[in-house]
Amino acid sequence: MNEKKSALLAVSFGTSHLDTLEKTIGAIERDLAAAFPDRVLCRAFTSGMILRKLAERDGLHIPDVPAALSGLTERGFTDVLVQPTHIMNGDEHDKLRAQAAPFTGRLERLSFGAPLLTAEADYRETAQALLAELPPACPEEAVVYMGHGTGHFANAAYTQLEYMLHDLGRIDVVIGTVEGYPGFPEVLERLRERPGVRRVSLRPLMIVAGDHAKNDLAGPEPGSWRVRLEAAGYAVSCTLRGIGEIPGVRAVFTRHAREAC
Ligand code: CO
Repeated sequence: MNEKKSALLAVSFGTSHLDTLEKTIGAIERDLAAAFPDRVLCRAFTSGMILRKLAERDGLHIPDVPAALSGLTERGFTDVLVQPTHIMNGDEHDKLRAQAAPFTGRLERLSFGAPLLTAEADYRETAQALLAELPPACPEEAVVYMGHGTGHFANAAYTQLEYMLHDLGRIDVVIGTVEGYPGFPEVLERLRERPGVRRVSLRPLMIVAGDHAKNDLAGPEPGSWRVRLEAAGYAVSCTLRGIGEIPGVRAVFTRHAREAC
């Protein structure tokens, strides 16, 4: 018997919202497993906060990157392909690479696929995948995506993606972030530049539709983007689907894994 000795480790930030987990991270993992039938598919999360919450609340024990790689090494795996499901080459991805680095000498082969938005072609493909999910453009409506945002220099990915969406013909799409630039004030500024816009279709630009989507985007609190946009006079509809639900987005991750082999 030739027992599988190669693995594919799918590494995500993670989410404590189990409903979106299966539809997004789970779906990316299923696509990866189907594309790599010769590899054992494993899961790791990089967020310590989420791992603790899942363990305490649900008794669900998901490994972090060192634990996953240690486990694979101990089980005799010699070839591990690591594919992040991170959107950008930011802090979580840096952490993943730093945590995986000590295993280079312990495995015969340790390779890494790139995050979603890395090369120019990734932006084009991701933008096309997002557009495939949008209703046709309409002069009274704008699409606003809420990204996470970060102080890391990778944050520039958001404006590059918006630029790409505009070049693909959808100048009605605006991207803002919760924790970086552009933020909500800039989103409002972009909308104000289009006086004909009355309605906003608000969507997360995050792999999962978890806490940020449910609260910061669509929640009833005064700080949520839905409430702030309504206060600014817009009719708002929220589509709470993580972009991990979009097949064309998942295809970018699968291609990145293939390119790493
Ligand atoms: Co956050």
